[in-house]
Amino acid sequence: MKGLLLAGGHGTRLRPLTFTGNKHMIPIANEPMLFYGLRHLAEGSVKEVGIILGPLHEGIEEAVGDGSAFGLRVTYIHQGDPKGLAHAVLCARAFLGDEPFVMYLGDNLLQEGTRPLIKLFHDTECDAAVGVTPVPNPSSYGIAEMDGDKLVSIAEKPTAPRSNLALIGVYVFSPRIHPIIQELIPSRRGELEITDAIWKLREEHRTVSVRHVEGWWKDTGRPEDLLEANDLVLQTSVPGGFVNLGTVAEGAVLEGPIRIGRGSFVAPNARIEGPVVIGNDVRIETEARIGPSVSIGNRCTIGRRGGVRRSIVMEETVVEGSVTLSNSIVGRRATISSGGNESIEVSCIVGDSSRLLF
Ligand code: G1P
Repeated sequence: MKGLLLAGGHGTRLRPLTFTGNKHMIPIANEPMLFYGLRHLAEGSVKEVGIILGPLHEGIEEAVGDGSAFGLRVTYIHQGDPKGLAHAVLCARAFLGDEPFVMYLGDNLLQEGTRPLIKLFHDTECDAAVGVTPVPNPSSYGIAEMDGDKLVSIAEKPTAPRSNLALIGVYVFSPRIHPIIQELIPSRRGELEITDAIWKLREEHRTVSVRHVEGWWKDTGRPEDLLEANDLVLQTSVPGGFVNLGTVAEGAVLEGPIRIGRGSFVAPNARIEGPVVIGNDVRIETEARIGPSVSIGNRCTIGRRGGVRRSIVMEETVVEGSVTLSNSIVGRRATISSGGNESIEVSCIVGDSSRLLF
């Protein structure tokens, strides 16, 4: 079984980027989002992964390399102009050969990983296995209509959805999908839709198996989704208790699951409430308040009386003065500061290298 990890703007609509580099490199619990997909593929016994790169792919090859750190062999495939998910499969045709493959959308996070879906694919000897889960806004997803176990219809972002079951961004296909994709024509929105290809399998009376996924799933299309994904990963994956590879001064107060990286320092009277991950060489100064639900990247400083709640703070950023960040995403090398003595709370999305003074 091969893997295909989509790490580009796989559709024609590139989502707004707030940070330099590729969106899939935004850290969730201090690790690039794309790494979760790679690990899920490796856990699913995939050995070879093709990473599909779109026009914005800065940082990916440098971070993933040949994939050996994940136990994988990685090949990079340039999609060129992204024209839909089925177009990504078309671009990977030579890499995929005639093996079955798992396609994983790199902006998806899925608690159960790929294993149950791969098992369903093998157990049911089908030509496609897809995962579904109920969503409150079905017009934003590929939607599956079911009659018991049977797939009755499938539609990409329907204006009048026939169910609330969204296709999650993980699919397993047999090579039968390739000739179908060869003949697909672009949809109304100009894309080669994977949902159309799946429906054509059904029209050929092939088996499409559907799994109701267990645990949480997130498509990280919007900033709020990134924060929710960060909450979920922190709640479920920060090792219980306390991991400290840095230095915590006497008089600092730490509660709940917390991971502190090498060379980091927590000053007296700082307070950290988990779940929180703190990278390497971070300084948390006296009277700073961190958490819950916070990720702080390497080499950040949270200054005296600074605070961070439910936020993602990327590398080398400084929060100083009496500012408390909440529900915020802050890029790399940014500075957020306050001139006055009064405590203020701010919620913001701040790009790399920005300076904000309140
Ligand atoms: C894509 C698929 C859609 C699926 C979704 C899951 O949409 O086209 O069918 O439900 O991923 O994340 P996109 O997120 O690219 O708009």
